[in-house]
Amino acid sequence: MLNYKLIVVKFNEEQQKEFERLVSHYPADKAKSALLPVLHLAQNSFGGWLSTDTMNYVASLLNIEPIEVYEVATFYSMYNTKPVGKYMFEVCQTGPCMLRGSDDIIAYIKEKLNIGVNETTPDGLFTLKTVECLGACGYAPMMQLGKHYREHLTKERVDAIIEECRAKVN
Ligand code: FES
Repeated sequence: MLNYKLIVVKFNEEQQKEFERLVSHYPADKAKSALLPVLHLAQNSFGGWLSTDTMNYVASLLNIEPIEVYEVATFYSMYNTKPVGKYMFEVCQTGPCMLRGSDDIIAYIKEKLNIGVNETTPDGLFTLKTVECLGACGYAPMMQLGKHYREHLTKERVDAIIEECRAKVN
């Protein structure tokens, strides 16, 4: 059973200012256009994922229907609608990465962490996702980890990345 903190869904002062900055790029009656960046802000602000409460909060802020937020949040792979681990391995599985061994990398991560795709380790540290081309095909196979790309993946590199992540929390 994963143990996630209860999160109050309301932007703090700094997040609210960022929300207002994002919305200010669009005409007042077109606030919905800010939905994608506002969802990123909400995801980053409330534990790395978008709960129904968070999506409803975003809908209320943008004065749109909750279903409009759900549709977008469930369409794009960069939004998480379930809790995720502190470290999310988003492994590209599109053609060039597949030709360079992404299937083996995904299988190795599954075995090493004992989780499947879209699952999180019981300690809440790691989530494995597969994604489509991240535009770094020349460095295949690769994955995104937080804001950074990890490229030319091998089993040894995966081991090192996992150790690096574990070391940060110890
Ligand atoms: S196919 Fe993997 S980054 Fe493009």
